[in-house]
Amino acid sequence: MCKGAEGLAMNDLFIEDVRLPDGRRAGVLVTGGRIESIGPDLARPAEVPVLPGKGRLLLPGAIDAHVHFRQPGAEYKETLLSGAASAVKGGVTTCMDMPNTSPPTTTLAALQEKIRLAQDSQANLYFNFGAAPDNLDQVPAALETGRVKALKIFMGPSTGQGGLAPEFMERHISQAARLGLPVMVHAEDIDDLENEQDRWPHDVHHHHKLRPAGAELKAVAQALELAASHPVKLIICHVTQAEVCRMVEKSGIGDRVRVEASPHHLFLSTGSIKNPRENRFRVNPPLREEERRSALLAELNTGINTLGSDHAPHTLEEKEQEYDRAPSGLPGVEYLLPLALDCCSKGLISIQRLIELTSLNAAEFLGLNKGRLEAGYDADLVLVDPEHVWNIGAGDDRVASKCGWTPYEGFSITGRPEVTIVSGRIVYSID
Ligand code: DOR
Ligand code: ZN
Ligand code: ZN
Repeated sequence: MCKGAEGLAMNDLFIEDVRLPDGRRAGVLVTGGRIESIGPDLARPAEVPVLPGKGRLLLPGAIDAHVHFRQPGAEYKETLLSGAASAVKGGVTTCMDMPNTSPPTTTLAALQEKIRLAQDSQANLYFNFGAAPDNLDQVPAALETGRVKALKIFMGPSTGQGGLAPEFMERHISQAARLGLPVMVHAEDIDDLENEQDRWPHDVHHHHKLRPAGAELKAVAQALELAASHPVKLIICHVTQAEVCRMVEKSGIGDRVRVEASPHHLFLSTGSIKNPRENRFRVNPPLREEERRSALLAELNTGINTLGSDHAPHTLEEKEQEYDRAPSGLPGVEYLLPLALDCCSKGLISIQRLIELTSLNAAEFLGLNKGRLEAGYDADLVLVDPEHVWNIGAGDDRVASKCGWTPYEGFSITGRPEVTIVSGRIVYSID
């Protein structure tokens, strides 16, 4: 174990007086970055630094398996380090970064460069490897780095990324199944999107018609069909409609399929798209009508398995251009856990369900030693004040993402992450 300047063992910590999700008051002893013991009446060993928990609620740090940090290629929007700082401010301790950077993360060399750039990150960073027509041979070596937990397939074109043709998709899925590598899909059918292009005016109010709900269902059906023929683990990313959950239930392979939902599809709808800031809300897949949004929200206790922010920072200058020039994507990593805590405060989900949605289910599916407040698990933790009422992006809340804005600005919510710990190190504290 390494020692700090004062001879203190690093990544050892005693967290005094926290409230566990079951309501008990407890202490937590962390050694070597892992939880050593947790429970009431825990004695504090001499020499271990103490963090006063102040009776705050202790949760596993959130895992956001879906972020688009912009390094390399668009560092002015976000870097790996600025993205990680934004994450830990919001209680997210682990992120999985998507491959649509420039260059894309579709080669071992590009992956190694990201790993190098992420060295001093405050959060744990993993990298989803991108599936391309010509890079099947790169995937096994990428997996061997230990920093890739999933393969990403864009089935339709999106920001900085074309869609992958079905024959290549099948080859990748078949290989991923053999490698035991989970696959994450952005599910929008290319042909369906193309067919709509001449039918609607090109403006953000028609974005959800230009990229219709049916295009998502068609791509999901295709992904499920491929997954049925190859024993792959599949995550369907950022679903916009409850129908996807029904399709997964009916697929017969639900044990190896997970449904991810993103906060913007749960908490924003076409009704949020208002002048003069309307193009900010351009995102793929699009925000849907209010009925679809509320039906999706109702799946938080049933068909949705995991939350991923799809954090896709672009500058306001870029977003406020005319529709055809405004890039798609919304930032969100630092408000994922706060918005989920607000759902607890409103009685929509229990604390246990919040843990499943924000850490446990992703950890189990992706094979991370995280997501549980138990001895032996990584000490990635967040201390929360579940009763704190605040306004996003207002008062003393400053957006930490380099892009400097949030689509949730002005939301009044209850529940705030206040201290974030990664591998036993305090990486963010509101005090
Ligand atoms: O709106 C989106 N933005 N959807 C994506 O699939 C990619 C993302 C981005 O990278 O900006
Ligand atoms: Zn996507
Ligand atoms: Zn995405």
